[in-house]
Amino acid sequence: MRWTRSPYDRAALRAGPSAAPPRKRTALVTGASSGIGAAVAERLAAEHWRLLLNGRDEDRLNNVAAATGGTALPRDLATPDGPARLARDAIKIGGRIDLLVAGAGVGWVGPFADMPGSQVDRLMAVNVVALMRLVHGVLPHMLGAGGGTIVLIGSVAGIGVRNEAVYSASKAAVHAFAEALRYEVADSGVHVAHVVPGVVDTPFLDRRQIPYTRSRPRPMPPARVADVVWEACRHGRDEVFVPSWMRLPGCVRTVAPELYHRLVRRFG
Ligand SMILES: NC(=O)c1ccc[n+]([C@@H]2O[C@H](COP(=O)([O-])OP(=O)(O)OC[C@H]3O[C@@H](n4cnc5c(N)ncnc54)[C@H](OP(=O)(O)O)[C@@H]3O)[C@@H](O)[C@H]2O)c1
Repeated sequence: MRWTRSPYDRAALRAGPSAAPPRKRTALVTGASSGIGAAVAERLAAEHWRLLLNGRDEDRLNNVAAATGGTALPRDLATPDGPARLARDAIKIGGRIDLLVAGAGVGWVGPFADMPGSQVDRLMAVNVVALMRLVHGVLPHMLGAGGGTIVLIGSVAGIGVRNEAVYSASKAAVHAFAEALRYEVADSGVHVAHVVPGVVDTPFLDRRQIPYTRSRPRPMPPARVADVVWEACRHGRDEVFVPSWMRLPGCVRTVAPELYHRLVRRFG
């Protein structure tokens, strides 16, 4: 459990919303202008965190910043220097970053053959390259400070979902990155958590080409994912599925791959 070696006061983290912590811890949250990132910002604000919030849409980002007492840092993470600049600015403005929640992400649904090449580039730029470059910008600061927490938002689609080939591949990359990085920084005081949501009721579902129309799994509120993000930070969890039964398909694929592939072909 890494909190003991981190510079944070673990007792203060456990104290709950009513107790004021000895000093404000600072979190950088991407994807904060919408959905899960905005819900994470609200959750952290309730725990007295100082917030640096990133998104692209300035109006929505400013609304979240106003509601949470955070500072808006609007930047496009898909630009070549966007993530590095955000990391630099956040460290300069915040003085420190104790927690990074990398929530920015985009999806695309449909047959891969129909996916415009520009969308392949954009999806991988936001979901994979920007996420890694942002961690690359923040990690040396955390290592220098002797600790910190990095939460990467993955997806159950990382297992490989029909009609979401590139999105699935991007989230599989996030999974492997989280795992590999966690081994690498294991003794440094930096903790890497991978939060893996199922279907979440956010604008994400409408921003894809084909809206989500399945009755099951029913989309869950983003606040539920935000609670899990917070619990992963508090308890130093490595990988958390939301809901927890979403871990099941991966287990079935490992122990009974043929059965798994038959079920996927049948039920999608
Ligand atoms: N919703 C789901 O069912 C679901 C399920 C599993 C995993 N996830 C993952 O959860 C994360 C958050 O998704 P969500 O559901 O909260 O989606 P969302 O409501 O669409 O929010 C996506 C966020 O990413 C930001 N973003 C996108 N492109 C960006 C760019 N180029 N530069 C900076 N920010 C950018 C958006 O900013 P602007 O709006 O300001 O452009 C927005 O704040 C994503 O990584 C997604 O893959 C979602």
